[in-house]
Amino acid sequence: MDVIGCCRLLATFTEEPGYTTRTFLCAPMREVHRQLQSWMERLGMSVRVDAAGNLRGLYAGTEEGRLLIGSHLDTVPRGGAFDGVLGVVLGIALVEALDGRRLPFSIEVIGFSEEEGVRFGIPFLGSRGLAGTFDDALLAKKDARGITVSEAIRAFGLDPLKIPEAAMDTGAFGYLEFHIEQGPVLESLDLQLGVVDAIAGQSRLELQFRGQANHAGTTPMHLRRDALAAAAEWIAFVESEANRTAGMVATVGRIAARPGAGNVIAGEVTASLDVRHAGDDIRRGAVERILAEAQDVAGRRGVKVDWQTNLEHAAVACSADLSDALRRAVAAAGLPVHRMVSGAGHDAMIIASKLPVAMLFLRSPGGVSHHPEEAVRVEDVDAALRTGLQFLSVLEERRD
Ligand code: HGY
Ligand code: MN
Ligand code: MN
Repeated sequence: MDVIGCCRLLATFTEEPGYTTRTFLCAPMREVHRQLQSWMERLGMSVRVDAAGNLRGLYAGTEEGRLLIGSHLDTVPRGGAFDGVLGVVLGIALVEALDGRRLPFSIEVIGFSEEEGVRFGIPFLGSRGLAGTFDDALLAKKDARGITVSEAIRAFGLDPLKIPEAAMDTGAFGYLEFHIEQGPVLESLDLQLGVVDAIAGQSRLELQFRGQANHAGTTPMHLRRDALAAAAEWIAFVESEANRTAGMVATVGRIAARPGAGNVIAGEVTASLDVRHAGDDIRRGAVERILAEAQDVAGRRGVKVDWQTNLEHAAVACSADLSDALRRAVAAAGLPVHRMVSGAGHDAMIIASKLPVAMLFLRSPGGVSHHPEEAVRVEDVDAALRTGLQFLSVLEERRD
């Protein structure tokens, strides 16, 4: 398989022509499923879509036990061609590289329906289904058009009442995720691959600042309750708090001001907050300080502030045993072994609640991701495939 070419083809299945934008169970996701299914079935894999919208291709083994290989098929708005999708296509390419040989365990390649959390503000909907941690309350979450998760699942031709059936059974013994690093580290070290030791914890919130909309020309500055000025002062604090805390990143990536006219003082602002750190206590402490500051700024400006937490996920350690097997595989492929922490969240952090997980990062040229210029190098894809084959051999040897 031309892995890069396949990813670039899948990137054209989009909600926004000219860009790669593909959210939970949108129409273009059907085209992605159709294309992946045809590649999988050509290799003798049996394919289905579970009630959480995950595409699942099974390459049967000669004995019990199943290795899951997966990542997500959704993207951020105007994202790249490799975040998530690469992990699914590499899983299929690994099966192809077996050239019809059957292993003493099955391989299930999984394309998760939603990891980014763009459409409903809640990430990991697909992998929660597989992990059996999909909270029914999520079904009532609404997107910007007022469509619920449940309605989106039904519109895709699936039955949300069957989500519990999507949960993995006891036959699975491990999960491997190939993923682009999405950062500058491997490239700065002139390395092709990295083995992930842990995935940073993350907090994702949405805040609402409510002041008083009014005329921009007639309202003196000292009589204003400007929600956007309050949010702006708070956002500057978010950035300075992250700069003050080693190893922390904090982002306000989305903001909306209403009524949104240039000659009207903003009465209401919604803003996102994303805070990450390898240490959970440090992250939680920073979130507390950032929210206290929101209250302080709002109080000083006669503005009200509320917030909801959409995700509070602790840092997750990858399986020491499965990661050891992966490090052996990297070495057996003749490559230097580099261990690292992931600042990005991944489906592996959800699956880790049920299975040993391991992650292999591929270098991100320019350290760019969540952007149309996201890329991956063909020699790094080859290195990842060679490592994947060695990984399967290590697992086979362990069963002997
Ligand atoms: O935002 C993230 O951590 C990942 O790209 N979903
Ligand atoms: Mn992403
Ligand atoms: Mn991703």
